Amino acid sequence: MRILAIETSCDETAIALVEARGSFKKNDVYFNVAANIILSQVKLHKKYGGVFPNLAKREHERNLLPVLGKVLEEDSEESRIKNHELSAIKKEKVEKLLERYPTLQERFWEFSEKTPKPDIDAVSITYGPGLEPALWVGVNFAKALSLIWNVSLIPVNHMVGHMLSAALEKKSRTEYKITNIAFPALALLISGGHTELVLMRNWTDHEVVGQTRDDAVGEAFDKVARMLGLPYPGGPEISKISERARKEKTVPPKLPRPMINSNDFDFSFSGLKTSVLYRIKKKPVKTAAEKAIIAREFQEAATEVLVKKTARAAKHYNAQTILVGGGVSANNRIRDALRETTEIGSSQTRLLIAPIETTGDNALMIAAAGYLSATLRPEMLVTPAGVEAGLLKAEGNLRI
Ligand code: KG4
Ligand code: ZN
Repeated sequence: MRILAIETSCDETAIALVEARGSFKKNDVYFNVAANIILSQVKLHKKYGGVFPNLAKREHERNLLPVLGKVLEEDSEESRIKNHELSAIKKEKVEKLLERYPTLQERFWEFSEKTPKPDIDAVSITYGPGLEPALWVGVNFAKALSLIWNVSLIPVNHMVGHMLSAALEKKSRTEYKITNIAFPALALLISGGHTELVLMRNWTDHEVVGQTRDDAVGEAFDKVARMLGLPYPGGPEISKISERARKEKTVPPKLPRPMINSNDFDFSFSGLKTSVLYRIKKKPVKTAAEKAIIAREFQEAATEVLVKKTARAAKHYNAQTILVGGGVSANNRIRDALRETTEIGSSQTRLLIAPIETTGDNALMIAAAGYLSATLRPEMLVTPAGVEAGLLKAEGNLRI
């Protein structure tokens, strides 16, 4: 099955074209990546110190067609089918879908005229959770493609994408395999918008068993970085300067480990962030070395909470596999600490952390999640007729 996957939930415009084969139940799922492009808006958001939803939307609106054009160029599959003539009704539908995105609407027909239908069976699209305006532009664009190319849509939950990214095993430059997973499995999903522990009883039965009660861990990294005068996104910056403090063997200040011993699997990072703020107010940080000490201590506190809670939840649910994904899982200290924790990487529990290149938002994981739905939950597919009837609505924070 050839899937075109689109991801616009935050500040990355990502599109991939993937040939998927095999069965999740038989553990022989392979993805052949024909193209996988991520256009990051980070440079733009850096100027403002964070992501503004409407700005992100405008960028997606501007970038979706060029990125799709590149993806189709990279796809070596020749068998492109000429577009069929659209009925007036369908044409009007497409117009309506894109009416709030003038830049996109303006160029859409020209694109559709000069671009024959690619060899795809479905369009997989992130419908949530994420920033509403950013999600909407992606969903409406995907609907328009479904109508002009007469292919079904597979609505995908972004978090399932991150979950699957941890199960991706790179076989070659273009091929990934879904690792054989023993259930029940536990997924630790850590990103700029989420901090969740998800119990996976099998490939399709997921339950969020713990989550942050305030800030997501990535958000805390970003905010602490900002307090220290470091650029957005702060996660990689904190990680980088913490390394420096590790080498200097300084004694770090003590920051709290919120909820580390609480009787549930929830998290809280807002108090930790505020503690950093108080510390900086009490004793302003000036030198790079002073910044590094605080960054490191913050990273240690966040890491310890994540690792301890994950270990406890894994034990409680008798997890056979632990999957870790999301932008923050690129953090080396967190990766190392997870690997060093015996309760997590023990003989009976297997630890799988997303390959670095798939930790952040990408469309390969959306293709993988799309294939999961298409094969195990075909009722999730929305046919072009369904799209025309408005069956798929972008529901920003709808759960799995
Ligand atoms: O998954 P992602 O790309 O987007 C969301 O869905 O949110 O995650 C982005 C988050 C940002 O908060 C960023 O600072 C954080 O991931 N991040 C990191 C690292 N790399 C990215 N946090 C800690 N250490 C890193 N190395
Ligand atoms: Zn994400």
